[in-house]
Amino acid sequence: MSIKPWQHAESSSLKGKDLISLYDLTKLEIEEILKKCETVKTMHNLGADYKPLKGKTLGMIFEKSSTRTRVSFEVAMWQLGGYALFLSGKDIQIGRGETIPDTARVLSRYLDGIMIRAFSHIDVEVLAKYADIPIINGLTDYTHPCQVLADLFTIYEKKKKLHGLKLAFIGDGKNNMANSLIFGCSKVGMNIAIASPKEFFPDKEVVDKAKADAMMNGSKIILTEDIFEAAKDADVLYTDVWTSMGQEEETEHRKKVFAEYQINQELVSSADKDVIVMHCLPAHRGEEITEEVIEGPHSVIFDEAENRLHVQKALLSLIMG
Ligand code: CP
Ligand code: NVA
Repeated sequence: MSIKPWQHAESSSLKGKDLISLYDLTKLEIEEILKKCETVKTMHNLGADYKPLKGKTLGMIFEKSSTRTRVSFEVAMWQLGGYALFLSGKDIQIGRGETIPDTARVLSRYLDGIMIRAFSHIDVEVLAKYADIPIINGLTDYTHPCQVLADLFTIYEKKKKLHGLKLAFIGDGKNNMANSLIFGCSKVGMNIAIASPKEFFPDKEVVDKAKADAMMNGSKIILTEDIFEAAKDADVLYTDVWTSMGQEEETEHRKKVFAEYQINQELVSSADKDVIVMHCLPAHRGEEITEEVIEGPHSVIFDEAENRLHVQKALLSLIMG
């Protein structure tokens, strides 16, 4: 096993807990998930049996499409000895108007945990309020915490540290990925620069919330319209689609506004010489990132996607085990 700088919590405070936003977790809890991830990934690669969730069932509600989140959670549950139930938002009664509080109370009688991908973040908070079982946010319009846990783990694997690094996010500074990266980086003491057109700068509410963590952990949150300023000395370049799910009507406008907000070879060359390039995927080649960069030597995008599985296993075993 590789060196593990994470501080150990005495016992997990994550058991039975919801994961709605990284902002709600302590630094120690995030470190505990990353540490656990390192262990479960090593066991996975050794082919060791690890089945702490025997007899446990996770319900997975999807109101939006997914490849990585759906498959990694489903495979994670199976590998941990449990069972995952796919529930399309269109097919369950929520799609016909059954309330979220009623759904939460009924599903709590059958399941041991729920992972939900929803349009509205508030719906996930309501689900968590009324459910007696842990709720995991699998992406909302506001945050995508499971993706950023996998991102932090990937950065640690590649750089052997997190604290003091600089991540530059290029694109829509108001989207779920930008918000979660701001929360996540601030928790672990990474500097984060968001490069966006001014109208897409992160909401003040997000920056103000994260600032306290950033200050405590000695890191900075930088907002700029200039992609080269953001990329200067960056250890990580990160991007995401210009148009997130649910914003399809704005696609043409966004293509114009974000045209310059692309990770291409020129931007990669302007960052640290060992910069890694990340993308949560799915990617739109030729828009937010070029084919050359995705397939190039700095890209760790497919390791990042693989780590969704290992982080999901760590998270599920800590929360539901
Ligand atoms: N990155 C991510 O969450 O991918 P999916 O939308 O395919 O789940
Ligand atoms: N911002 C993107 C992330 C996809 C994983 C979206 O919400 O569509």
